[in-house]
Amino acid sequence: MPAKEMLYDCEKVRFAYPDGTPALTEVSFRIWRGDRVAILGVNGSGKSTLLRLLDGLMEPTAGVIRFMGTPLTERSLQNPSFGRLFRQRVGFVFQDADAQLFNPTVWDEVAFAPRQMGLPEGEVRTRVADTLYLLGIAHLAERAPFRLSGGEKRKVAIACVLSMNPDVLLLDEPIAGLDPRMQSWLVNTLRLLHEAGKTLLIATHNLHLLPEVADRVLILSEEHTLLADRTLQEAMEDTQLLVSAGLLHEHLHAHGDAVHSHLHGHEHHH
Ligand SMILES: Nc1ncnc2c1ncn2[C@@H]1O[C@H](COP(=O)(O)OP(=O)(O)OP(=O)(O)O)[C@@H](O)[C@H]1O
Ligand SMILES: [Mg+2]
Repeated sequence: MPAKEMLYDCEKVRFAYPDGTPALTEVSFRIWRGDRVAILGVNGSGKSTLLRLLDGLMEPTAGVIRFMGTPLTERSLQNPSFGRLFRQRVGFVFQDADAQLFNPTVWDEVAFAPRQMGLPEGEVRTRVADTLYLLGIAHLAERAPFRLSGGEKRKVAIACVLSMNPDVLLLDEPIAGLDPRMQSWLVNTLRLLHEAGKTLLIATHNLHLLPEVADRVLILSEEHTLLADRTLQEAMEDTQLLVSAGLLHEHLHAHGDAVHSHLHGHEHHH
């Protein structure tokens, strides 16, 4: 088998926001073509920050992120050939759809990236129509994205990325806010994309859907370090690891007179 192509190489990546808030500390890992990786960690551990860095929206404060060998910097992204290649290959679904949607209509929103890529208008129209149909949102085409419901906005954000047909999909909590039917549609779509050779990086809190969407996990600690880079199976069998990452927690229950403790995933309601 030929060696897999390395897409991302993150070396000792550190990031602090301009106000001084630390968000990532000495994070190193690599991503190969076709990988399916979940990024896990409690609220505020740095998942969204990491995805923004991998999308080149911000630069590390220290350390380096290379994409196919080229450091991701404001400068390299301004280079017409690298910038264009990177933008065509990498698509990002934001956690907050409001921060992503800015066009006057849903149609224009989904057409935006294919137009930026310079596709002929006929091809753009076909792609947009197909994607809206796939997501069951063709009826929203003329609506203003900012006036949609939360779940509708998320579908539009997903449509925007699918219409680009990127090789690498960065997805920040893509399942949150979708109804059960859309959740299973999305999980299935992600599986098909993986089978088609796409690379997927997904930040999620949804532990019970993990086996459907990831083979490997990166776990960020509350201190913003990389606690683990393991196969999904290895990580899920390590209760100690999951507890220390805050992904499982001990909870006291009263059953009649008896009180005992259980381990819980965060997706459960108490
Ligand atoms: N624009 C910002 N300015 C300052 N600090 C920020 C900003 N965005 C995030 N942070 C801080 O950076 C840290 C990491 O935030 P990040 O959004 O990456 O976490 P997360 O793992 O995605 O959390 P969640 O599960 O809630 O989405 C947090 O302490 C957060 O408060
Ligand atoms: Mg986040």
